Amino acid sequence: MEQNSSKQPNIDTVRAVNSFTDEELHQIIEMEHELFPVGLQDFSYEKEIPKGNVAVVAYCPEGKVAGYVFAVPHHEAHAQFRSVDPLMPEAMDAHYIQSIAIRRDLQGRGYFGKLMKKFLEETNGRAITMHARVSNNCSVGMQKHGATHVHSVENWFDSGEKFDYLIIEKLSE
Ligand SMILES: CC(C)(COP(=O)(O)OP(=O)(O)OC[C@H]1O[C@@H](n2cnc3c(N)ncnc32)[C@H](O)[C@@H]1OP(=O)(O)O)[C@@H](O)C(=O)NCCC(=O)NCCS
Repeated sequence: MEQNSSKQPNIDTVRAVNSFTDEELHQIIEMEHELFPVGLQDFSYEKEIPKGNVAVVAYCPEGKVAGYVFAVPHHEAHAQFRSVDPLMPEAMDAHYIQSIAIRRDLQGRGYFGKLMKKFLEETNGRAITMHARVSNNCSVGMQKHGATHVHSVENWFDSGEKFDYLIIEKLSE
């Protein structure tokens, strides 16, 4: 039987944004609900992206949010996470990836790399730090593409999940 590939959802645009519409915020919060365990969902997003933060969003052709990556200055993340990860260095001229996700029905098709490519363009060669989930191979995948594993946090925010602290000086595609 012939497959109608045009009916498959896909991503046609990936761009950096300075603000979100109410509808986009709603879709992002729904994705966080669906994709992250309770306790790891971040509902602190605001319509205006604060200066110094980086937000890159992937969109489906009809304009729905298909994925995103959000980053904050490293020192802000340090202030937020140092109690959970005392080994996290304080001073780093870097962007810290706070959240990254691809809508479930679009996962496993290489869009992660597309999102990261645009994100790297926006960060202008500055280093990137993150706590990457181990359970879904995010950490291993990032390391395959050039991220350095620095240390691990066994029970990230009491989620029962291990997260790896990574530094990314340069990522390969
Ligand atoms: C993590 C997540 C965004 C990955 O998206 P995905 O659609 O499943 O991933 P993709 O199929 O596009 O890509 C996976 C591949 O990208 C590779 N990859 C990792 N980093 C990359 C990068 N910077 N550039 C290019 N490719 C990269 C991985 O190595 C993997 O390749 P492999 O299959 O050869 O091992 C997605 O699983 C998700 O949204 N998970 C739930 C939310 C979540 O846990 N987010 C936190 C992650 S730390």
